[in-house]
Amino acid sequence: MATPTGSALMERLVSLCKRRGFIFQSSEIYGGINGFWDYGPLGVELKNNLRDVWWDSMIHHPPAGPDGRPVEIVGLDCSIISHPRVWEASGHLAGFADPMQTCRHCKRLFRADHVAELLGESDWVAAVLAVCEPGAVAGTHVPRRTELKRWAETRGKKLAPGLAIVREPGLIARINEDAHDVPMLLTILSSSGPPVTEVRLPCPNCGGDLTEPRQFNLMFETWVGAVRDEESKAYLRPETAQGMFYNFKNVIDSTRVKVPFGICQIGRSFRNEVTPRNYIFRSREFEQMELEFFVHPSEADTWYRYWRQTRFDWWCNLGLAGKNLRLRDHEEDELAHYAKDSGGCCDVEYAFPFSGEKGFTELEGIAYRSDFDLRQHQRVSGVKLEYFDAERNERYLPHVIEPAAGLTRGVLAVLCEAYTMDESRPSPELMRFHPHLSPIKAGVFPLVNKEGMPEIGERIYQELRRRVGSCQYDAKQSIGKRYARMDEAGTPFCITVDGQTLTDQTVTVRDRDTGAQVRVAADQVTGYIAERVG
Ligand code: GAP
Repeated sequence: MATPTGSALMERLVSLCKRRGFIFQSSEIYGGINGFWDYGPLGVELKNNLRDVWWDSMIHHPPAGPDGRPVEIVGLDCSIISHPRVWEASGHLAGFADPMQTCRHCKRLFRADHVAELLGESDWVAAVLAVCEPGAVAGTHVPRRTELKRWAETRGKKLAPGLAIVREPGLIARINEDAHDVPMLLTILSSSGPPVTEVRLPCPNCGGDLTEPRQFNLMFETWVGAVRDEESKAYLRPETAQGMFYNFKNVIDSTRVKVPFGICQIGRSFRNEVTPRNYIFRSREFEQMELEFFVHPSEADTWYRYWRQTRFDWWCNLGLAGKNLRLRDHEEDELAHYAKDSGGCCDVEYAFPFSGEKGFTELEGIAYRSDFDLRQHQRVSGVKLEYFDAERNERYLPHVIEPAAGLTRGVLAVLCEAYTMDESRPSPELMRFHPHLSPIKAGVFPLVNKEGMPEIGERIYQELRRRVGSCQYDAKQSIGKRYARMDEAGTPFCITVDGQTLTDQTVTVRDRDTGAQVRVAADQVTGYIAERVG
């Protein structure tokens, strides 16, 4: 069986991630809580490895800039709750909202722009289409009154109790048997009023009537201090970016950075997403890795193009290269007004198994933000945030290029990319992580639990732990089962101490991806592994 795709891949991946301790549903023993996830022993290692590679590539080993010199970036770690006026300045209080619709029948909430897609995945819609006949034009369906009535009076009651023709089967007599595309067909079946003229999609869950879209602010609210009133209201940050803007002056005053330079941080963000979905892709609590890179306005275009390519290359180097990764420039109508004149906006996109018709969804956005944020914070706080550029003898508000990546979304892309099915192996499922990212770098096994093999294995294991970190010693069950466990965890190398070790002091090293085994001197195997896992 080849590696599955689409929902079959997601199903297997989610199951492996739970079974092997990558990701658990938050508070699962209480039935879980929608949009929140916990990272298990392997998952937290994977996430931390991805986080560390990003931090290292920004702070410790930044890439060479357009002029060949390393770019200058400093780090921050800001509080999750900040002064509420931060969100007034950033525009989040007024505008960080999604259109939301509520089902009048089952009371579920949906993001208005997700309803069509959710209907495409809905069981009741698939069942309705199955009792209609295909129309002459591709993508159209002819409702057959007799079959529809039978369905509405039987399966429909369970699958779509809110759908108008299920609640009132008598309505079916009014439906004419013309061909319609899916949105219009669903509109007709969910309408109990006069003949419909425009599309109005029903509830993906039960077929009920949806309210008009209302704007819903995505920020989580809380209160600071003992009194709960408007004065004490505060927000969990919906992005890490603003910490870099409101600390701009602190960083300039406390360090020797000079424009062009960047400030970055990694941390948790919170969005009360109307429809959290697709596993950890869109959650209510997630982690971001964001860089705000401050430049002279005349150099914004050069730096935008630089970061656009650099960030794409970064993901490629982690093994996401190839047909699953692409850079997509935003269309003119997607651009913020300030991004139109210089630079632009683009997304690094990954072909997640649920990306559907579009084929790709956002992993990271790279945006030209002009001086919008600094100007807003300067206006709302009343504190001057201009930078004096000694080389140019000029005072100005720097412009910003922002590469904003999702850490937890990155973990999902890495998991999807790594998942491989190979029936010819002891374990048909293996995770081909880049060795830098693998939660366990090497497994050490004595072939049998006697004849001095455990002692040699234990020694190698202790030495490896000191040198490369996370490793595992495993002496239980057959060697095939031990390899299988390591393949599922994505461990790139397995070291086996066997009978030959006792005579020539060599061990076997098995490569996860090829299954090939080589013999390496036992006293050199730590260096051999360290060199390959970086
Ligand atoms: N400061 C800009 C900003 O926050 P964004 O596109 O809203 O931009 C940046 O978020 C990245 O954060 C996204 O590309 C995505 O990887 C991640 N992200 C955003 N919302 C998320 C969510 N609800 N769940 C998981 N990751 C999310």
